[in-house]
Amino acid sequence: MNKNTVIPDLSNLWMPFTANRAFKHDPRLIVGAQGMYYTSIDGSKILDSTSGLWCVNAGHGRQEIVDALARQSAQLDYAPGFQMGHPNSFRAATAVAQLMPEGLDRIFFTNSGSESVDTALKIALAYHRARGEGQRTRFIGRERGYHGVGFGGISVGGITPNRKAFSGALLPSVDHLRHTHDLSHNAFSHGQPAWGAHLADELEELVSLHDASTIAAVIVEPMAGSAGVLIPPLGYLERLRAITEKHGILLIFDEVITGFGRLGAATASEFFQVTPDIITLAKGISNAAVPCGAVAVRRSVHDAIIESVDTGIELFHGYTYSGHPLATAAVLATLDIYRREDLFARAAVMAPVLEKAAHRLQDARHVVDVRNLGLVAGIELEPRPGAPGARTAEAFKRCFDSGVLLRYTGDTIAVSPPLIVEEDQIEQLFSIIAEVLDGID
Ligand SMILES: Cc1ncc(COP(=O)(O)O)c(C=O)c1O
Repeated sequence: MNKNTVIPDLSNLWMPFTANRAFKHDPRLIVGAQGMYYTSIDGSKILDSTSGLWCVNAGHGRQEIVDALARQSAQLDYAPGFQMGHPNSFRAATAVAQLMPEGLDRIFFTNSGSESVDTALKIALAYHRARGEGQRTRFIGRERGYHGVGFGGISVGGITPNRKAFSGALLPSVDHLRHTHDLSHNAFSHGQPAWGAHLADELEELVSLHDASTIAAVIVEPMAGSAGVLIPPLGYLERLRAITEKHGILLIFDEVITGFGRLGAATASEFFQVTPDIITLAKGISNAAVPCGAVAVRRSVHDAIIESVDTGIELFHGYTYSGHPLATAAVLATLDIYRREDLFARAAVMAPVLEKAAHRLQDARHVVDVRNLGLVAGIELEPRPGAPGARTAEAFKRCFDSGVLLRYTGDTIAVSPPLIVEEDQIEQLFSIIAEVLDGID
């Protein structure tokens, strides 16, 4: 028997964001991955329609990354990043900066999206303090926003189950904008919905309520992925930018999902032509081969903090593994693949193919909305009465058994394949989704 087919003892591992009891009763184990496919423990091939967790943008098992990691771990396994450095962390920062919008060229490395978010929030506070506006301590997030699982991230985030068990310990000075998702106006939109730019004007109301002088930053995902593919209405992000600029409030775009090609450009900021002050990154930065995240900061924000102290450490923040040699080797190799294969442009070319295939589900059973942007599609199902999320959970399991890995949140299925996806794979995955939807109650 292939040793991969032996299921290990499952009891010790407390799995993240998982229904542990259900999983251990009916486990789904992955033992390999190459290109667009996972291999499950029984040897079957599973088409990866979600880039792992929105992170394997260049496809699985890329040899260039494998080689870079092998070389790096043989040469330098670890070097402290505090008061010391190693060349690849500087090179990787330069390579990331080159992909960011003009002016956001100061890069702080983290190990995850959650750490990037908490780092960005701290940088915002430090910036205002350095300029003598230390009373700007309030953050504005948005309902249904997902910004990871740190206390900062869940405080500015707007996903109720992620917050409620910890509600007594959230950051105290946070308010939220309304989310922009409204099927009564925007169902079955192709690309950005036409209705909803005015929702950004609520920020003016929050500014009047709290006074701009108390607000440090607004943080939003330019396109929200984890909360169910929420696409910004036309003009919405532009208005947020105008209002934040007017009041001296920093704008943070959480691009943990949208960074590195997901919308067919290096960043969502570039795609929408709206430039924030800080961008949080992770996932596709290293093609998920090694955990890595980063925060790209406007040079003037960085300089205000760096120049605020005469000598010594300017920002008391960092991680043992910020700019880890393996992570930065993976970043360099990954960004090299994106560039050589022009994968962001490829995503833009494949986006209409995905759009067309996704919208064919408009008349499929249970479907109440299909939405798309770049290489992302959301398919929203009518919830089962009294059991929200049950229908998507069943669709997820059945699709997996039929050879397609999906992601779902609540009653929305999200499709976000690696940027190397081929047309026939897109066709295949949407026909399997249609078949599965037809077969469930
Ligand atoms: C927009 C956004 N921010 C932050 C995170 C958290 O990233 P991580 O799970 O790497 O901490 C995610 C993860 O999906 C995300 O989508």
